[in-house]
Formats: sequence, C-alpha cells, structure tokens
Amino acid sequence: MTTTPLRDRASWKALEQHHAEIGGRHLRELFAEDPGRGERMCAEAAGLYLDYSKNRATDETMRLLVELARESELERRRDMMFRGERVNTSERRSVLHVALRMPKGASLVVEGVDVVAEVHEVLDRMAGFAQRVRSGEWKGHTGKPIKNIVNIGIGGSDLGPVMAYEALRHYSRRDLTFRFVSNVDSTDIVEATRDLFADETLFVVSSKTFGTSETLANAHSARDWLVGQLGTEEAVARHFVAVSTNAERVAEFGIDTANMFGFWDWVGGRYSMDSAIGLSTMVAIGPEHFREMLAGFHEMDEHFRTAPLGENLPVLMGLLAVWYVNFFGVQSIGVMPYEQYLKRFPAYLQQLTMESNGKHVTLDGEVVDYDTGPVYWGEPGTNGQHSFYQLIHQGTRLIPVDLIGFGASLNPLRDHHDLLMANVFAQAQALAFGKTEEEVRAEGTDPGVVPHRVMRGNRPTNVLLAQRLTPHLLGALVALYEHSVFTQGTIWGIDSFDQWGVELGKVLAAQITPELESPTDPDLTHDSSTNTLIRHYRALKQS
Ligand code: F6P
Repeated sequence: MTTTPLRDRASWKALEQHHAEIGGRHLRELFAEDPGRGERMCAEAAGLYLDYSKNRATDETMRLLVELARESELERRRDMMFRGERVNTSERRSVLHVALRMPKGASLVVEGVDVVAEVHEVLDRMAGFAQRVRSGEWKGHTGKPIKNIVNIGIGGSDLGPVMAYEALRHYSRRDLTFRFVSNVDSTDIVEATRDLFADETLFVVSSKTFGTSETLANAHSARDWLVGQLGTEEAVARHFVAVSTNAERVAEFGIDTANMFGFWDWVGGRYSMDSAIGLSTMVAIGPEHFREMLAGFHEMDEHFRTAPLGENLPVLMGLLAVWYVNFFGVQSIGVMPYEQYLKRFPAYLQQLTMESNGKHVTLDGEVVDYDTGPVYWGEPGTNGQHSFYQLIHQGTRLIPVDLIGFGASLNPLRDHHDLLMANVFAQAQALAFGKTEEEVRAEGTDPGVVPHRVMRGNRPTNVLLAQRLTPHLLGALVALYEHSVFTQGTIWGIDSFDQWGVELGKVLAAQITPELESPTDPDLTHDSSTNTLIRHYRALKQS
C-alpha cells in the first residue's frame, strides 16, 4: 500500500488549493462558462449512462481527483483484489465477489483452487434446485408442491435477497409467494407465516456463519411452527434448506447438508447477493434471469477493471463522493431511484456503503485525521419530493444526490412514466440552478415572502439513466456501487471489507439476555443507566 499519508499526498494538497479556488463557485457560473459540460461530463458502461456535469467540479477537479486515485494506488489495489490477494487485511481474507460472476469456463486460481469452477458448481446445484421448486417436482412432507418461500437471514443474508426480489419482481413467478424474515422481533416471523400453510412452505435459512443469533432464533421458531402444523420433526427435511459457509453448524441445527448451498469466506456478507445467498432470488426469477444478472455484474466488473480512471463510472462516482466528504464536509449522500421496483435499493446500499466504509483507522491501524464513509440514505422518487426534499433544496446542509431513472416503465400506463422522468430532470435542474432573488421578485412575489422562495441551488446531483430495469441492469447497478465503495475506501486507506464495529453490541446483548430472562433478580454490574433500564424492563415485563 501507499506509504504517504492521505493528507500529505501531492494530489491532496493540490485538491485543497483547488477547492479554495472553486469550492464557492456556483453551478450557474460553471454552466455559463462551459456550456458543453452537460454533453462532456458523462460516461457510460454496462447499460448505465452517468451524467455528472451537475457536480461542483470542473475538468481540473476531475483531473486532480484521478491523480489522487493514482497516488492512492487504486489501480494496484483493484488488481490485487481481482487476483484474490488478501486485501481484507484485518480478517486476512481475499475479497472475491467479482469471482461470483465470472463466466463459466473462465478460471481464477487462488492459493491452488480454481474458484470460478467452484462458483459454477454451486450455481448449477442452485439451478437444479430452483427448477425443482419452480416445476413442483420438489414436494413437501405431505406430497404437495411448494408455494411459499421464506428466506430467513439478516444483514447481507437478507437485504440482498429482499432488494433483488423486489427489484426483479416483474420477472418473478407470480404463483409463488416470497417472504423475508430478518428481525428477531417475533412479529416479523409471525406476520410472515400467519397466512401460510406449512405443507406448502419452504424455509431458506441464509447465514454465512450460521451463528447469527437473530437468524437462529427465527429458524428455530420457523421449525416450531412447521412441526406444530405438520406434527412431526421428519417434515423438517423437505421444508428447510440452508445457505451457509458453515456445514457443521447447519448439520447441528438439523438441516441435511445435502440441502445446503455453500459459499466461501472470501465473499463478504454485504457482497453476497450473487452467491448462494441469492437462492431465493433464483427461485423467484429462474436460473436464466439469475445468470443474466450475473452477466450484468460481470460487465461492470470488467469496466471497472479495464476502463481508464477518468472514464470509469465507479471510479468517477467514488471520487466525487471523496471530493464532497473531504473538501466540502458533506455528511450524507442521497440515492433516489425513480423506479418503484428499486424501493429497497437504498436500504441495501446502506449496508453496502456504511458497513464497508464506516471505519476510523487505516489498514495500518492508524487513526485517520480526515472523514471517511458518509451516511447513505434514500427513498424512491417521486415520494421523497413530497417529504424530505425540502431540506435538500433549502436546508443548511449540502447533500449530494444520485437520481436513478429509466427510459421505459415495466408497467406502462397512460403518461405516468413521462411524469415520473420529468421529475428526475426537474429535480436535478432545480437543485443545481435554484431560483434567484431577482427571479422571485420578477414573479411579483410579496416582498416579505421573497427570501422564503429563493432557492440558492448549487446542490449537486449525479443522474444515472438506463433503458429499463432488467436482471442484467440490476447486476451492473449493484456492481457500480460496490466498486464506488472500493474506490472511496482505497483513497481513505481503510479496510472496506471487515465489520468489527458490529461485534461489541452482539457480545453485550449475549451478556444481558440471561439477565432479562432470569426468574430471580440478577446481580447487575453494568453502568448505572444500563442497570436501571434492565430493572425497569424487568418490572414492565412482569406488570
Ligand atoms: O452483524 C453484521 C453481519 O455480520 C453482516 O456483516 C452480515 O451480513 C450479517 O451480520 C449476517 O451474518 P450471517 O450471514 O453470518 O448470518
């Protein structure tokens, strides 16, 4: 890795200087001085068109950011990742989600193993299973075909499957019901199963470690529910399959490992929707569509791997995020898909971006002296426009926004789609250019109201356009954000692939659980707030 600390790099210093010069400039001026920027500041790959011209950046900004990427050794680290080197240093693991979507016949040998061959072996087994469920050949314990598929998992073992199911619902089997249970709150599983018949229901227990307490609690309750309805433990074999890297724990739970689909420690949870964790997705949309999705991922991977940095979509988006976070003090980035099927995409991105780049030490363990991962959030348009967009337009914070739109709806109706897309372009325009005091006055506005109606503008957007939402496009879109996250993490010199920050809460919850369950008053040795809260809860529980 690069030895020069981030803030001492020549390109960083040049960017500081450059920011002092252009940071205050308005997008109105930038467009007036350079009317061609809308045609020029764009890039295209894997069916995605990116317009980044409405960013507070010039050609010089982009040149310096690319220089920063070079000086941060982005290309070398990217190549290390693609070769299967252990770039997840704190967990001493390779990071090879890109191998999950390499085509059949390709080969990537890592530490003596052809991982692509292994990937396709599992994909073929998944396809066989998905076909059997879809055709009705896979029968439940009483001989009925499966009608309901319930994925039990949390984090990456839930958010990817549920996002992909919702995103690709148009391509899914409508005679099958899909549910996703993640929360240890019992309401989640109770509501997910209350109208289902156990003899037609298949549970896919998805957990990389098969040790996550929420997932195991839900899997045990699902088993109770099933055995309660069907009257025998023997029913479990036809109604439970597992997706995991841990065969031992799967067997311990009582799922036959012949009904287990594996993956590998080099697939991070939040990078796993295209591994066997996508089993429910494959049952929903079929193996062919699943393969199309993998091809979309792969096309974006290849673009990221080979395109020049200045034309590379994930690199451009990642660098712009760094520009705003570190030079404008931006705290959050909005992602607004103008596509109802992508309603869970922002939630999916939250884990991808924040679990990856929410880190405060470098790969060498040094505490950073700059900001790292921003908060990512969002909602589908146009809904957000009628709730929180007010703050983006006129609030005191700068929030760059990605707007995602499509050339055609999968459910065309009257002029809905043009109405939808007009809003994408209108929002980007309003955010960038706003409305000046003179313009407001010229409308004959009551002078007292003028300041309230002024829109200062100069709020940046990226606009992403694609023809329509297909499995291929979804793969490309997810890979775009994955590699943008990698780009950001590389500049910041952090490990984007570990997640130690989630561990302490798990350990403390395991200590507290018996204190909540104890029939007699436990001896509490926490801080006074935690002790009082536990006592209060125990009293509430008994009242
Ligand atoms: O607690 C965080 C986490 O480890 C995520 O990284 C992961 O996606 C999720 O929990 C679920 O883990 P598993 O698939 O092992 O159940």
